[in-house]
Amino acid sequence: MSEAVDAIETYLARSADERLEQYRAFLRIPSISALSQHAPDVAEAARFLAEAMSASGLENVEVSATEGHPVVYGDWLHAEGAPTVLVYGHYDVQPVDPLDLWVRPPFEPRVEGGCIYARGAADDKGQVHLHLWAARAWLETQGRLPVNVRYVFEGEEESGSVNFDRWLEGNRQRLAADLAVISDSGFFQDNHPAITIGLRGLVYAQIDVSGPSQDLHSGTYGGLVQNPANALAAILAGLRQPDGRVAVAGFYDEVRELSQQERSEFARLVFDDARLAADIGVPELFGEPGFGSLERRGARPTLDVNGLWGGFQGEGSKTIIPAHAHAKVSCRLVPDMDPKRTFQLLRDHVLASAPPGVEVDVWLINDGLWSLTGIDHPATEAAATALEAVFGEPPVYLREGGSIPAAASFGAMLQLPVVLLGFTPPDDHAHSPNEFMRLDNYEGGIRTIVRYWEALGSGLD
Ligand code: BES
Ligand code: ZN
Repeated sequence: MSEAVDAIETYLARSADERLEQYRAFLRIPSISALSQHAPDVAEAARFLAEAMSASGLENVEVSATEGHPVVYGDWLHAEGAPTVLVYGHYDVQPVDPLDLWVRPPFEPRVEGGCIYARGAADDKGQVHLHLWAARAWLETQGRLPVNVRYVFEGEEESGSVNFDRWLEGNRQRLAADLAVISDSGFFQDNHPAITIGLRGLVYAQIDVSGPSQDLHSGTYGGLVQNPANALAAILAGLRQPDGRVAVAGFYDEVRELSQQERSEFARLVFDDARLAADIGVPELFGEPGFGSLERRGARPTLDVNGLWGGFQGEGSKTIIPAHAHAKVSCRLVPDMDPKRTFQLLRDHVLASAPPGVEVDVWLINDGLWSLTGIDHPATEAAATALEAVFGEPPVYLREGGSIPAAASFGAMLQLPVVLLGFTPPDDHAHSPNEFMRLDNYEGGIRTIVRYWEALGSGLD
């Protein structure tokens, strides 16, 4: 260990309580980007983050407006001759329903058994926060960072990063960098450290089926009009085959088939299907035939209904034909699928399968591109070395099922190599009730970044 890292370790041990307090305060702000009534909270989280960045010693900190929620920017650019790292994360979080399944309310952080529970604890406030403390530890103890850093923290990642590309475009001149590091992914089964090399893309759409101008008595009108809820059920049933393959015409046309080598890389990762099924409470796993679970998650596209509503939802019975019915449907995309084309295919398929007697509308809510990188970039190798030094074993390389639209943007728009270096436990309940972060991963994450910057500072090759 270098002298600097030694001093940083001491500093980090001493500051653990203060750090946890600040982490908790960040988690208390309900920055749900998808729900407009939380816009003031998202703004407050941006301000909080900006203040914490300044307190960490970062410079040029700014809450930068977009047409949606702001981007928080800050930098430290005095490591002459050293590479510049663009660090990306997001301070917004997912909605929290169903509330009754939370042991404690989602924005009242609870520490128990070495974990911190709250919405955003893992995805992604905890991982943004650990980056601030890695910088702070360097600056407080050494008065410098070994690399130049530019932090870009988004407030709309969980709602599709709809304004982010435009912000990137408008801020190109202050985003010059040698690589991007994103901590918004996690470890592998049993909490083995991991570096993510693949993410899926996304198309998120809504289907609206409308029938009569208002709800009707189902005795008087049943048999006389099309029922929008029945129609929606028929449409949705037609989107997938019973075996899990997507039935949308043309859906698989652009899918890049896995090579033999890729399949053997997947096969090397030991994954326990039965245990996952037990952990998440299902009788068995289910998905497209012909592929292993990790292949299905990392390299095959899917179509899922994310939400479904219409008609009577209250207690007891109400005999109506509902006026309308709705579904939120999303597809995860893999190389080389094009989100816009996939949406068109989905839309065409839904409209073609709409039964008579109702009107059907299909509209795009958001989309994002997949990304896939190699493992052999020197910046990835340095990340692997830092992970091993802190967590005691080398990382596995994963192709993940989730999406981070910004990851593709950094590659495509800024031509940066992207290293996805995340620390959340594999069962972190992200997007679900009782989301949590392991505090040892969080603390280890800080120490990994500390070492990573040191390694990058001494050269990228
Ligand atoms: N942290 C996730 C992305 C992720 C999930 C990475 C699983 C690795 C494994 C991120 O915050 C996220 O949830 N993204 C959304 C993006 C969408 C709204 C465009 C997702 O994947 O649903
Ligand atoms: Zn998320």
